[in-house]
Amino acid sequence: MSAAHCFILSSFLAVSRWKVHAGSASLNPTVSHSIRSIYYNGLYNSETNDYDVALLKTSQPMGFSETLRPVCLPRTRQQFQSTGNCWISGWGHVSEGGQLSPVLREARVHLISSQICNQSTHYPGMISPRMLCAGYPDGKVDSCQGDSGGPLVCQEDGLWWQVGIVSWGEGCGRPNRPGVYTNITVLLDWVYHRLQLFEPVSCTYTYLLADERTKEAVLIDPVLETANRDAKLITDLGLKILYATNTHCHADHITGTGMLKKLLPGTKSVISKHSGAMADLHIQDGDEIQFGNFFLEARSTPGHTDGCLTYVLNDQSMAFTGDALLIRGCGRTDFQQGCPKTLYHSVHSKIFTLPDSCFLYPAHDYTGQTVTTVGEEKRLNPRLTKSEAEFANIMNNLNLKRPAQIDVAVPANLKCGIQD
Ligand SMILES: [Fe+2]
Repeated sequence: MSAAHCFILSSFLAVSRWKVHAGSASLNPTVSHSIRSIYYNGLYNSETNDYDVALLKTSQPMGFSETLRPVCLPRTRQQFQSTGNCWISGWGHVSEGGQLSPVLREARVHLISSQICNQSTHYPGMISPRMLCAGYPDGKVDSCQGDSGGPLVCQEDGLWWQVGIVSWGEGCGRPNRPGVYTNITVLLDWVYHRLQLFEPVSCTYTYLLADERTKEAVLIDPVLETANRDAKLITDLGLKILYATNTHCHADHITGTGMLKKLLPGTKSVISKHSGAMADLHIQDGDEIQFGNFFLEARSTPGHTDGCLTYVLNDQSMAFTGDALLIRGCGRTDFQQGCPKTLYHSVHSKIFTLPDSCFLYPAHDYTGQTVTTVGEEKRLNPRLTKSEAEFANIMNNLNLKRPAQIDVAVPANLKCGIQD
């Protein structure tokens, strides 16, 4: 987790320009991780520093160790004691205009209420709900240039929580000019909407949805190669998976539903009855998959394949589109019963009729994008904003390569991913 301004202000969005050094207190660590994606909040305002949050996804998982431990994300609007055990850390300047520190430094700070911090004596009206202040009335202890993006963590109930991200401040350690931090407790939706399970060979996203109260969960589009990872996550989170469901019979990877049924007995596999594939449960347009107090409504969206389903969460706040609609794209229509006209009609009648604010999660992305909205795709999708005839013309002239795994994947997926 980091600050958006670190990446935007310097146009440093190229992943190759960054490395993550973790588990070391020295500025010259031995282990570093390359970056797969950088996400920054699209509402970030470089003048006010509002919404100053970014996420970096490493190319490989970081293994935890004695010196590398995870920190908890806070709960939505969780309150922390102002004089609690809160710490900032970083390699930034050790004083205003001073030198960068070669070793990681830390300092204890108090949280300062936004009501005080917004007063004319401090930062008059400049502290938005997405910000929080920390430091001391007489200054002296503060984060400084070079600490940006670093954490403000608080210990409470025996756990460390990341409460803030070093964002901005006037000078360093000046009286009545405390450090200003991004307030994570009000930006959790943005963070959670960017956490996805990814399978890098076929660039498949797998989605885990759960009711926090009943612990009942559903997994969408698991992949054979990452089934163990998904089963472990489900077990670690104390969830009870009811269904492992596919949006369609995939041609580019083998589904993990069969393996998950073995790893987590009791799991039911689900797929459209028009897919022609085996499963415990065959569903169709209008059917609902219940988990806890939520359900997914299945909408039939054929065109990429006959059996493509889009799963819409009961409050229509999010939908899982499979290959029917991708971010600024769509699934190909040149094999497996593909038909441009059918796909065009599916997207326009079943997906674009959802609220503009509805988040859309595709089965794949090949460029590191993770989520879009109905409004964005209605405006910006280069194919589906066209007329039906133009769309068909584009789709019929893509000249794509045959998916590498198609001859293995389709026969296996017709049988829940279990290979003969
Ligand atoms: Fe597909």
